[in-house]
Amino acid sequence: MRIENTFGIEAEALAVIKYDSEKGLTNALKTLHKFNAELPILLIGQGSNLLFLNDFKGFVLKSNIKGFVVKQETDDEVLVEVGSGEVCDEFIAQAIQRGWYGMENLSLIPGQVGAAAVQNIGAYGVEAQDVIEEVKGISLKDYSERIWKQQECQYGYRQSIFKGDLWGQYAITRVTFRLKKHFEPKLQYGGLVKAVEEKGLMKDSLTAQELRQIIIDIRRAKLPDPKKQGNAGSFFKNPVVPKEQAERLLAEYPTMPHYPADEGKVKLAAGWLIEQAGWKGKSLGPAAVHDRQALVLVNKGGASGSDIQRLCEAIKKDVKERFGIELEPEVNFI
Ligand code: EPU
Repeated sequence: MRIENTFGIEAEALAVIKYDSEKGLTNALKTLHKFNAELPILLIGQGSNLLFLNDFKGFVLKSNIKGFVVKQETDDEVLVEVGSGEVCDEFIAQAIQRGWYGMENLSLIPGQVGAAAVQNIGAYGVEAQDVIEEVKGISLKDYSERIWKQQECQYGYRQSIFKGDLWGQYAITRVTFRLKKHFEPKLQYGGLVKAVEEKGLMKDSLTAQELRQIIIDIRRAKLPDPKKQGNAGSFFKNPVVPKEQAERLLAEYPTMPHYPADEGKVKLAAGWLIEQAGWKGKSLGPAAVHDRQALVLVNKGGASGSDIQRLCEAIKKDVKERFGIELEPEVNFI
C-alpha cells in the first residue's frame, strides 16, 4: 500500500491504517500486536517531513482524528483542543474566523496538527511551542494515554521529546492550543513589516486575516507547492554555530545572514550557505535544489529517496568544504 508523502516518492508499507478516534487507534494497535507483534509501526501525518529511502516493511498508522473543542475561555484567551488529524492550516483559518489568534504566521505550512506538535513547526518568528498548551498521546506499547504539558515537551528549534527520546513510542491524538482573543501581529521577522507596507496596509490596523494572506503570499512566492512539485519544505535545519565561528565567517562574508541563538551561539541561514556553495537551482539526476529557496530540495519527477539523499550528501560535502559547517537535515529519513 502506497505511503502518502509530499516528496512524491514511491514507497510502500504492508498497510496504511487510519484511525479517527482514540478507541480506533487502540483497537488497531491491539490487532497489530495480536497478529504481527514483531513488525514495526510508523506514525505519520501527511508525510510532509519524511524522506522514504526504502519501502517500509511494517505498518503505517495515520491520524484522522478531527474536530476541535473549546476547553476553557476567558475574555483574553481560549484553550482549544484539536484532533491530531486536522490539517494544521485549515485549523488556523478556522481559528482566525472565530477570533482566536497566535498562529497566523504558521499559515500554509503543510501537515497535520499532531505533526506540528512533534516537529515544532515554525515560520516568520512563531513556533508551535509558543501556542501549545499540552499534547495528548497514546502509548503504542500498552495503549495508556499520556498528557505532556508544554514545558515537558522539550521543545527546541524543530525539536521535541516526540522527535527525540519518545520517537515512535506514542501516537499523538490531540493538541491543546492557548490562543489570544485580541490580535497582536508578530512582525519582527525580517521582511514582514516591508511586506505589510508594500500591500498598502498599516501595521497598527492590520487584521489577522490580512497577516495570514501576507504570509501565504510570501510562502507561495518562495516555496514550491508540493502538489505540483514534490518537496518537504526546508530540507536542512538552519545551523547553530559557536559565536567565534560565526565571527570568523562574517569577517570573510560580511553580508552573511545571521540571527541570535542560545548563549554563545549564532544561527546561520542554510539557504544562503547552499546558494553560496553554488547549488541553488542545480540538479543531480531527478533531484534538484529549488531555484527560489535553496533550502528546499525538490523531486523533479520520478526521483527515489536515494536520489534526494545523493543530492543532500553532495550539498553537505560542498558546504562543509567551503564553510566548515555540517548541515543537518530537518527531514526525517525512513
Ligand atoms: N537565503 C539565501 N538564499 C536562499 C534562501 C535564503 O540567501 O536560497 C537567505 C535569505 O535571503 C535570508 C535568509 O537566507 O537572508 C533566510 O531565508 P528565509 O527568510 O527564506 O528563511 P529560512 O531561514 O531559509 C526558515 C524556515 C522556514 C520558514 C522561514 C520563514 C528552517 C529550516 N526553515 O527558512 O521553514 O518558512 O524560515 O520563517 O528553519 C520549513 O521548516 O519547512 C520551512 C519552510
